Amino acid sequence: GASLLATACLMSSAALAQTVGFSQIGSESGWRAAETTLTRMEAEERGIDLKFADAQQKQENQIRAVRSFIAQGVDAILLAPVVATGWDDVLEEAKEAEIPVVLLDRMVDSSKDLYLTAVGSDLVHEGRVAGEWLVGEVGDADCNVVELQGTTGSSPAIDRKKGFEEGIAGHDNIKIVRSQTGDFTRAKGKEVMESFLKAEAPGSICALYAHNDDMAVGAIQAIKEAGLKPGEDIKVVSIDAVPDIFQAMAAGEANATVELTPNMAGPAFDALAAFWNDGTVPPDFIQTESKLYTQADDPQAIYEQKKDLGY
Ligand code: AHR
Repeated sequence: GASLLATACLMSSAALAQTVGFSQIGSESGWRAAETTLTRMEAEERGIDLKFADAQQKQENQIRAVRSFIAQGVDAILLAPVVATGWDDVLEEAKEAEIPVVLLDRMVDSSKDLYLTAVGSDLVHEGRVAGEWLVGEVGDADCNVVELQGTTGSSPAIDRKKGFEEGIAGHDNIKIVRSQTGDFTRAKGKEVMESFLKAEAPGSICALYAHNDDMAVGAIQAIKEAGLKPGEDIKVVSIDAVPDIFQAMAAGEANATVELTPNMAGPAFDALAAFWNDGTVPPDFIQTESKLYTQADDPQAIYEQKKDLGY
């Protein structure tokens, strides 16, 4: 009897298993890799069958993946959109097929009725926190800042730039003297920082603002190779709070980071579960926390805590 019942339960839960397609951008950063790992883990814990598609940073691959998920008749789609524009048609197609789409970590310019909800942080706020941190750090001293932007056209690159500019607004002693994309990668962060160091007069760069930690880690290497001390000669502030930046902070080579949680899938699956269950429509935007960490926060201990959390 008991084993028959168990089999029946298993069969019914198998019948209820939902299938979710996840169109991920790629693996450009440690943060992104952690988001992928945690999404897989969250899906597994909830008995969700996750179909994963890595777009290798290309929007056309993401559009193709979403179309294929629609053709397969998945129960929902998670989309981490590489850039903000160009999604209307494919989102319309998902809507016509009655497949709810949840955006993860980046936003799109499309109208809100084309997706169920978006899970993410306040990206402008993150940039503002980084800018305000620098204001507090340099006081009245003159400070020339170089900026490493994220992927061109992506919502975090647009909003983190805007937020930082808001954060330093009214402090004319702080100036952004160079700003270029490093595409959210360590390699490009290093390469572009090398070009900044060559272009600016020796000793004239006071701070680096990087839209993510990976670019900051690459840039730290470039600063060291130029014979300067990152964290001292050039202050380093960035965003994500991945384990490697805490290691750099513990070594005195980075100064501050703003945390972005890589677990966007947890809130996304919660919203989907409620929607599947009784049609509950989630809020337009499910906001995750952003927290500033500095060298005063025992970075070595945070590194130890974080290093096994999917990064
Ligand atoms: O969209 C979030 C950003 O994308 C993260 O800050 C960055 O590391 C990632 O690649």
